[in-house]
Amino acid sequence: MKIGVIGTGYVGLVTGACFADLGHTVVCVDNNKEKIAALRSGKIPFYEPGLEGLVTANSRQGRLLFSTSIAECVKTCEVIFIAVGTPPLPSGDADLSAIEHVCVEIATHMRSYRLIVEKSTVPVNTGEWVARTLQKHVRKGVQYDVASNPEFLREGSAIQDAEHPDRIILGVSSDRAAMLLVKLYEPLNAPLLITDIRSAELIKHTANAFLALKISFINAVARVCELTGADVTKVAKGIGMDRRIGEAFLSAGIGYGGSCFPKDVSAYVKLCEKVGYDFNLLKEVMRINTAQRTAFFDKVKKALGTLSGKKIAVLGLAFKPDTDDMRGAVSLEIISLLRKERARIFAYDPVAGENAAPLLPHVTICPDALSALRGADAALIITEWKEFRNLDLPAVKQVMKRPIIIDGRNIYDPAKMAEMGFQYWGVGRPRSESARR
Ligand code: UGA
Repeated sequence: MKIGVIGTGYVGLVTGACFADLGHTVVCVDNNKEKIAALRSGKIPFYEPGLEGLVTANSRQGRLLFSTSIAECVKTCEVIFIAVGTPPLPSGDADLSAIEHVCVEIATHMRSYRLIVEKSTVPVNTGEWVARTLQKHVRKGVQYDVASNPEFLREGSAIQDAEHPDRIILGVSSDRAAMLLVKLYEPLNAPLLITDIRSAELIKHTANAFLALKISFINAVARVCELTGADVTKVAKGIGMDRRIGEAFLSAGIGYGGSCFPKDVSAYVKLCEKVGYDFNLLKEVMRINTAQRTAFFDKVKKALGTLSGKKIAVLGLAFKPDTDDMRGAVSLEIISLLRKERARIFAYDPVAGENAAPLLPHVTICPDALSALRGADAALIITEWKEFRNLDLPAVKQVMKRPIIIDGRNIYDPAKMAEMGFQYWGVGRPRSESARR
């Protein structure tokens, strides 16, 4: 099949590359000329494991094409995915202006039947609005369908998620649209759920809201653990072994970040307000998430006393491991709190340093972990990169001024850290012996 994907961000590029890998011919479109030129020469604008190889291989085989022209894409592709950004507005609503702009262009160039598929995360009922927008600008007599096919990719494991999905959701309003999408996904042999468009839109937002709820739930439990002496990692394991609950997304820490959960939970709350439901539970999810940052910062203050002039090593800047994405990164919030108290910050991230530098002008970005840790009064673990799990801890202890580790991701064993002479603070875990002394 010949498919168009408009928008070459995380979602669009991964979707396009994976469709091409399934044997379809894909035209990826973006209005950013430099980005398209770079993609044509095999350069990926962000870090995503496995993506570069996939793009290069499929471009070479002629199945993955890049263009700046929506007109060209509409002319040749029967199915067109919209994967442009829907960033949050100051009000918390999703900004749909990029989708509107793309719809107008698509409609203007349509001469025969096209299936327009929402891939970007959008509030429920956007499909209807897309159809109305197309209707205003399309030539008389030209047929089209709108569908919703939300993505469930996680940054850092996007290729794996796209090629081995738990399910594919197809929100359609005609058999023709359903048949086209089923055919498109056939080679994946994955479970399919065909729904109406509104339900598909709501499935996406609800999935993210529910995952955020799981994280805030376990973070609240972590606070209870800190007050009672229980260990949240054990509590999470114990409840997660119940298949009705499941172990995933029960890692307590400094709260969720990124470009999806914060935006989607707040857009969900806004949407509910508009339709007349006060989704207080989700408001509490957001409140717990914010409180997790403050609780972590309070630990830093408790461990160090005054922060003014202290040297703090921040390990991890990206919002999660295996990405260089700094959008919604908790590191930015923690560093801003530290800066207000006049701490001196030396940070290291295996891949996000370059993206982080312009956002953190008063932070020294170091080339490796030990350079950031040298002479530090404390080390903060912000992102759980594998590299940090495998650090040479005796060497870390030797280079630090004081062996204090405040771990926002629970990557070390408190007992072992105590044995090694560290003062170790995790999240929702009993403090190690040496920390108590
Ligand atoms: C998330 C969803 O997992 C994807 O299914 C969805 O497609 C995507 O949003 C999207 O809407 O585009 P992503 O934001 O890339 O994916 O990353 P996650 O792995 O879900 O992590 C989100 C945040 O939650 C991170 O800050 C992570 O550190 C945090 N998290 C995750 C926890 O604090 N604890 C956990 O147990 C899991």
